[in-house]
Amino acid sequence: MAAFMVEGGYPLQGEARVSGAKNAALPVLAACLICPGEICLWDCPHLRDVDNMLAILEELGAEYSWGVDGALRLHMAGAEGYTLPQRISKEIRSSIFMLGPLLARFGRAICTYPGGCEIGNRPIDLHLSGLSALGVRIREQGGLIICDGAHMRGAEIHLDYPSVGATENIMMAAVAAQGDTFIHNAAREPETEDLQTFLNALGCHVRGAGTSNIHIRGGVEPIQRAEHRIMPDRIVAGTLLCGAAITGGCITLSNAIPQHMGSMLSKLREAGCKISCMEDRVSLEAPARLQEIKLIETLPYPGFPTDMQAQFFALATVADGACMIVENVFENRFKHGPELMRMGAVYTQKDRTAVIRGVEELTGAQVTARDLRGGAALVLAGLRARGITTVYGAELIDRGYDALDRQLRALGARITREETI
Ligand code: EPZ
Repeated sequence: MAAFMVEGGYPLQGEARVSGAKNAALPVLAACLICPGEICLWDCPHLRDVDNMLAILEELGAEYSWGVDGALRLHMAGAEGYTLPQRISKEIRSSIFMLGPLLARFGRAICTYPGGCEIGNRPIDLHLSGLSALGVRIREQGGLIICDGAHMRGAEIHLDYPSVGATENIMMAAVAAQGDTFIHNAAREPETEDLQTFLNALGCHVRGAGTSNIHIRGGVEPIQRAEHRIMPDRIVAGTLLCGAAITGGCITLSNAIPQHMGSMLSKLREAGCKISCMEDRVSLEAPARLQEIKLIETLPYPGFPTDMQAQFFALATVADGACMIVENVFENRFKHGPELMRMGAVYTQKDRTAVIRGVEELTGAQVTARDLRGGAALVLAGLRARGITTVYGAELIDRGYDALDRQLRALGARITREETI
C-alpha cells in the first residue's frame, strides 16, 4: 500500500497545466469500440482507471500505444470480443458503459454486475432500462448481464434521474439503432458534450449533449480514422485551486475551462478567494484566512459537483464559521470525515448532511483514503496541517490524479510518495 507524506505549511504558488479529464476519457475510450479503425487521442490522462479501461480493450482484441508525442493511439480493427473480462470490470465501475459501444459494434454484450463501490451502491437500472427502450433484450444469469441488441431501434427515452453514465451508455448504443433516439432529462455534465464531439468525429450524428435533451440519428457507418483531444479535467482543476485556497497560496492553471467550474468558483469566491478567469486559464489568490461558506449542496451539473464535495469539506475545516454540506448524489460519500477528525477537524453528520465548524489549525496525523476524492481531500488537509500527515491508500488517489505528489511539488508543496507495506 503506497502513501503520500505531506509536510504542511507551504502555500501553493506558481502555474500548472491541467490534464485531460478522467470522466471524459473513460467514455471516449469505451466509444472507441464503435470504430473498427485507427484512433488518436490527445491529452488522455495517465491514470489507473484509464489503464484498466485500456486493459479491457486489449482483452477484447484492440491494441494501443502511447506515443512520445503524448498521444494515445488505438488500433480497433482487432477488437472482436463482446464479453467484458470480469476481473477488470469489477475494478472500475465505469466498465458498465462499455455495454453501449459493444452493442453498437457487435449487436451483443456480456458483462458482470459491476457491484457497489466505496461511495455507494451505484445501481445500473437507468442504464438497463434505457438500453431496453432501444430494443435490447437483457437477461441476468449468474451475476452476468447478457444483452442482445441485434435489432435496436431508436426511441424516446425519459431518464428518471440525469445519470451521467446512463446518458453516455444510451448515446453510444443509439448510434447503431435504426432511426432517431431522443434522451430527455439527460445528464448535462460537460463530459457528455466531449463524448458527443468524439462520436461525431467517428461519423455519428449526435446533437444536444450538454443540455437535457439529446438527439441521436442512428444507423451511421463509423469512419475508419478519427482523432480527438480530451477536454480538461474540471475536478483536478478544482482540487488544485482548493490546494491553493487551503494553504493561503496563489496559483494559475492553464488548460482549464472556467465555464465548466462555475459552481465551485462561486464557492471559492464566497470563501474570500480572488478568482480571475481567461478563456482557458483560471487564477486564484487565497485570503489569509478562509471566510465562511454557509452551505454546499451537491447536485447534477450545473449544480455543485459531488466530486468536489470532499475537497470543500477539507476547506471548511479551517475556514471561519460553520459550513453545512448536503451530499444529494451518493449515499456514502463522507468517509473522509472521520479521517479529518483525526487531524483535529470538528463536524457532525446525520445521513447525507454534515456540518463542519472551522478550527484554527489542523495537526498532522496518519490517515487513510477511503475513496478517490476523499483521499485527495486528506492530502489537501495535510498541505495545511501543522507537522507531517501520512495519507495511506495512495493507489485510490491514483485512480483520478496523475502523480498528485509531483503536481503539488511543482507548486511548492512538501510532499513525497512512499511505497509502504
Ligand atoms: C459519473 O458516475 C462519474 N464517473 C462520477 O465520478 C461522478 O461522481 C458522477 O458521474 C456524478 O457526477 C464517471 O464519469 C466515470 P451517475 P456515474 O450515474 O455515471 C444514481 C469520480 O470521482 N443512479 O450520474 O456512475 C446513482 O446511484 C467519480 O470521478 C441510479 O440510481 O454517476 C447516483 O446516486 C465518482 N441508477 C446518481 O444516480 C443508475 O442506473 C448519480 O449517478 C445510475 C445511477
